[in-house]
Amino acid sequence: MLILSIESSCDETAVALVEDGRRVLTDQIFSQADLHAVYGGVVPEIAARSHLEVISLLAERALEAAGKTRHDIDAVACTYAPGLIGAVLVGVNFAKSAALALGVPLIPVHHIRGHIAANYLAFPELEPPFLCLAISGGNTMLVDVRGYTDMAVLGQTRDDAAGECFDKSARVMGLGYPGGKPIDDLAKQGDDRRYDLPRPAVHGDNPFDMSFSGLKTAVINIAHRCDQTGEALDKAGLAASLCRAVSESLVGRTMEALESLGYDRLAVAGGVAANSRIRADFEAACRAADVKLFIPPLRLCGDNGAMIGAQAYYEYLVGHTADSSLNAYATMPLS
Ligand code: KG4
Repeated sequence: MLILSIESSCDETAVALVEDGRRVLTDQIFSQADLHAVYGGVVPEIAARSHLEVISLLAERALEAAGKTRHDIDAVACTYAPGLIGAVLVGVNFAKSAALALGVPLIPVHHIRGHIAANYLAFPELEPPFLCLAISGGNTMLVDVRGYTDMAVLGQTRDDAAGECFDKSARVMGLGYPGGKPIDDLAKQGDDRRYDLPRPAVHGDNPFDMSFSGLKTAVINIAHRCDQTGEALDKAGLAASLCRAVSESLVGRTMEALESLGYDRLAVAGGVAANSRIRADFEAACRAADVKLFIPPLRLCGDNGAMIGAQAYYEYLVGHTADSSLNAYATMPLS
């Protein structure tokens, strides 16, 4: 089954062609990062307008790259939530029109389910059940993936996502947007004990909930203090200390969640899964605990259309299709 899949929830316009949920024929991505960099973050109206400008062209290019015509398409899938509402709307309306014009099913996909499914593309042997830590710019959650479409959120951030913490820290350190990658690169030259950063504590019943706003504020305060007192800011040391703090907050909870579920397989997904420190720490923790670890290659960690096509196939198999009344949503529970 050949699925034309659309992703437009934030600042990447992406169109892919995916066969039977596992084989990527083409994955076209147009990143808007340069358009937003000057503002230090994503401007929703600019994002929506840019999606509108390139989405048709990208779909044509995807067909050409895969050597297919529109008559080969068996279904059209799109991210319908969560995301920047104007941005998601562009992808949803394009997908609705394409499905209607071609007379094929329309499959709505939850963006985080898509991130989780990126692992199916990278690891053909991976099947549920497994635990997934989804870490992106807008979401941070631990998901019990009981089946391809049967999932339960074990815990999630109470405030900022891990990616937001990287992006806002990078901004105050003058590293530009998006900030995760520059912080990751700089951290390699720094001392990860240079600054004493808090490990986010979360009060309440759920031991798997997380918090990153306190950590973000601590980094901002250090940068401002240096600014005001003339003390030199050790940017590499701060980047390394931040990567260590984020990683330790994620790894401990995730390993406890694995143990509580009795699973021996862990998948990590989302843009922040590209972070070298987080990848290395999970590799070490999983080796020690005899857990099999799945982390997609970098190109499948960030937003892409192929992951939407992968999840769409499994949603279709259980009848999760929509008609032209499909709407876009800024927020939506995962399950
Ligand atoms: O999954 P994604 O592409 O978009 C969302 O669905 O949000 O994630 C984007 C996030 C941004 O916050 C970006 O700074 C972060 O992923 N990111 C990283 C790295 N590469 C991207 N964070 C830490 N280290 C990286 N190497």
